[in-house]
Amino acid sequence: MSLDPSSALDLLKSYDRPDGLAVTELMDSRQHGGLTYNDFLLLPGKVDFPASDVLTESRITRNVVLKTPFMSSPMDTVTETDMAIALALLGGIGVIHHNQPAENQAAMVRAVKRHENGFISDPVVLSPSHRVEDVLDIKARLGFCGIPITDNGAVGGKLVGIVTSRDVQFRDPSTPLSQVMISDLVTASQGITLLEANDILRDSKKGKLPIVDKNGNLVSLLARSDLLKNQSYPLASKNPETKQLYAAAAIGTRPLDRTRLDLLVEAGLDIVVIDSSQGNSVFQLDMIQHIKQKYPKLEVIAGNVVTREQAASLIAAGADGLRVGMGSGSICITQEVMAVGRPQATAVYAVAEFASKFGVPVIADGGISNVGHIVKALALGAGAVMMGGLLAGTEEAPGEYFYHEGKRVKAYRGMGSLEAMEQGKPGGTTSSKVNVTPQSGSSKYPAPKKAATLDNAATSRYFSESSAVKVAQGVSGDVQDKGSVKAFIPYLYTGLQHSFQDIGVKSVSELREGVHSKRVRFELRTASSQVEGGVHGLNSYTKRLFK
Ligand code: IMP
Repeated sequence: MSLDPSSALDLLKSYDRPDGLAVTELMDSRQHGGLTYNDFLLLPGKVDFPASDVLTESRITRNVVLKTPFMSSPMDTVTETDMAIALALLGGIGVIHHNQPAENQAAMVRAVKRHENGFISDPVVLSPSHRVEDVLDIKARLGFCGIPITDNGAVGGKLVGIVTSRDVQFRDPSTPLSQVMISDLVTASQGITLLEANDILRDSKKGKLPIVDKNGNLVSLLARSDLLKNQSYPLASKNPETKQLYAAAAIGTRPLDRTRLDLLVEAGLDIVVIDSSQGNSVFQLDMIQHIKQKYPKLEVIAGNVVTREQAASLIAAGADGLRVGMGSGSICITQEVMAVGRPQATAVYAVAEFASKFGVPVIADGGISNVGHIVKALALGAGAVMMGGLLAGTEEAPGEYFYHEGKRVKAYRGMGSLEAMEQGKPGGTTSSKVNVTPQSGSSKYPAPKKAATLDNAATSRYFSESSAVKVAQGVSGDVQDKGSVKAFIPYLYTGLQHSFQDIGVKSVSELREGVHSKRVRFELRTASSQVEGGVHGLNSYTKRLFK
């Protein structure tokens, strides 16, 4: 005989424990070993709100809260200026890599801090002595020819004219621009808002509006064609005091990195990430203490760590955030070569559980290859995820697309790959240009000749860059084209909102509270359940993720 359906909820209460596992049972590694994100799932809760209600705001350091929990890795095939600006506009943050001269890295930080949406801060500029053929060449290569002319041919020089396509039409290619440029200019002063600048462009019917400082020097440019494309970015990651985008950058732990840090701070750095594969070293502890003494307001993300013990060292030294992960990255061979590391889900949980007691957020770094992994990292206590491979194929990542076996791809390499280690010499004198193709051999980037000293051993993420024999901890390859992060990040964000709706939580803090109070439940997945959870049984299929 069946029970009365109206008693279903009462019957539920009579069970001595809810369905599924509490996080403490799931993460009992003495029972099931270390877990990766694919080893478990969250159980569904109750849907009683729209997905668009979900807030993904989360803390990544003691004093920095982001509206979306997305960070990009400090890797030379992932984060330079374009990625850092785009991610900050979309509510996350990109960490600018340090496998380049300190001056270049500082210039990237400055560009992020100076960025104002809609204004082009690094426009193509020519001088009056350039020729018509130079404009035609730019038009052929870049597709536009409204070019400001300054006395020195660079941004910052005195604005003396502008050339447009009509000015160079039917002209002898060798004519100097001084003879064809328009000198009667409509300009706007630095500090003007986008809205005011738009009005000037509309009324003047010009295609380009140069923005100048009080001495008439060119600061930036506004293009009519961009006005139409201009999106607003309500989630943008901005310093609440200055209203500028947040800038983050990585440094190493060698003495020379202190000088690098000075340049970065001068450029406006908000968050420094101390980049090491094994964060619990005397070099890193010294560096944290140095930073806290010299720049007490700078937020310090230390790492990487995967255990409570490592975390305790860095927290005690003053870390404001911790980066968690050792061996989980998609390009990583650390676990294979060093026999050291930890499955990522277990590492995130162990460190986050400990660090939360001190109010120190953790960042789940590496091994994120889909929206589900992000949700799981947040459920295990991470304040954000850091992604390398997932973002390396986007337009904003450094490097050009090329074709590999018929697919449009970009190079992506581990910072512990031989190629990356050989490019980034201690002292930082190499070019910042990421010159990686699948064929790039080590001979292209001659290794530094210095033998390892204690100082050199302290120089790097992998403690191996300056050794006579380099031991690789990463590989070099390529990843498929993912389009712009301006479409990809909104996909991750909306995906998160839908997942939270399924779980029945409206925010990251509610998710965390639900996990802590054991209301949000988990289930382990066997190997065959993982097969079941993927696409199976089809003859062929196309996997399109968003539109
Ligand atoms: P992914 O998102 O899975 O591709 O992992 C990116 C993360 O891998 C980075 O943020 C680093 O923590 C880590 N990583 C970068 N380069 C290497 C390497 O050469 N070996 C091991 N880990 C690396």
